Amino acid sequence: METSFFGKAQDTDVFIHTFGNDKITLSVTDYGARVVSLRYKNTECVCGFSDLSGYIKDTEYHGSTVGRYANRISDGKFSLGGESYTLALNEKGVEHLHGGNTGYSDRVWEVAEKTSDGIKYRLFSPDGEEGYPGNLEIFVRFKVEDSSLVIDYEATTDKDTVINLTNHSYFNVGGVGCENCREQTLMINADSYAEVDEKLIPTGKLVQCAGTPFDFRTGKKIGKDIGAMDRQLEIAGGYDHCFVFNGKSPMASISSEKSGITMEIYTTEPGIQVYTGNFMTEDNPFFAKYPQRTNEAVALECNKLPDSPNQPGFPCCILRPGERYTQHTVYKFI
Ligand code: GLA
Repeated sequence: METSFFGKAQDTDVFIHTFGNDKITLSVTDYGARVVSLRYKNTECVCGFSDLSGYIKDTEYHGSTVGRYANRISDGKFSLGGESYTLALNEKGVEHLHGGNTGYSDRVWEVAEKTSDGIKYRLFSPDGEEGYPGNLEIFVRFKVEDSSLVIDYEATTDKDTVINLTNHSYFNVGGVGCENCREQTLMINADSYAEVDEKLIPTGKLVQCAGTPFDFRTGKKIGKDIGAMDRQLEIAGGYDHCFVFNGKSPMASISSEKSGITMEIYTTEPGIQVYTGNFMTEDNPFFAKYPQRTNEAVALECNKLPDSPNQPGFPCCILRPGERYTQHTVYKFI
């Protein structure tokens, strides 16, 4: 493992760690426990920045570990065990998104363990942080195994809380700066997705994918139907929806004809937020040379469904004292 100084954030030294094997080379940083670079067959498959200032400036959660609750919580409010909680309203002052003003993406994580093939981070998230109940201790381990990146998450709490962790890497298996994600073939083993309202908050309804632009079960180019006349696509300006897995494996895959690379996703999570970089227009070029453009890459976020704390019909997102939250997600490159 090669470790070097990446810069200073919140008065703390931040490092970048690079490791891998003859197939994959991965770089991660302590700032937000973020994936900075993933190289497979000499191709850069993740959008990242060359220096820490790119991450501090970033508003799109590039490569980051997102929490305490990934995606949106309606009006930033939920109740748990008879108590009402109000979270930070960091999205347009009306919704709670990706953990709040300083979510886990913008915290400096502590290195708990380093091995030749991986790194384990720890974060302590105090009771009341961004409005969430309970002191939470979180571990996230990034590991390279053969041609896969494996991310394992663990968390424990001392009070009932809600939790939804994910990794927010934007993948481009055609090579960052070489082609955009519209050219790439996405397969999702999902029969339904969570319908959203104008504020991108789930309505609670799971809509069947069959016969809609959301049917990726046999694989199709992202660009094929992204511009279709469909109210859900109009609201989000593309895909920005949580698909519910149907139990088939792999849960999802994406491939590029140009590079010949395919990435398969295996996860213990119930769903995947597919976000086609619809707001990706920041003046913050990837690796100091590739401009951020709409649909430049796709975030494939394995997680629980958005706004589950307010949706009794969605899979449970509650963590109680004595329990252990775990997630195991594999990104396999072929
Ligand atoms: C998620 C959300 C999107 C957007 C991005 C970050 O994927 O679903 O709406 O907020 O994060 O920009």
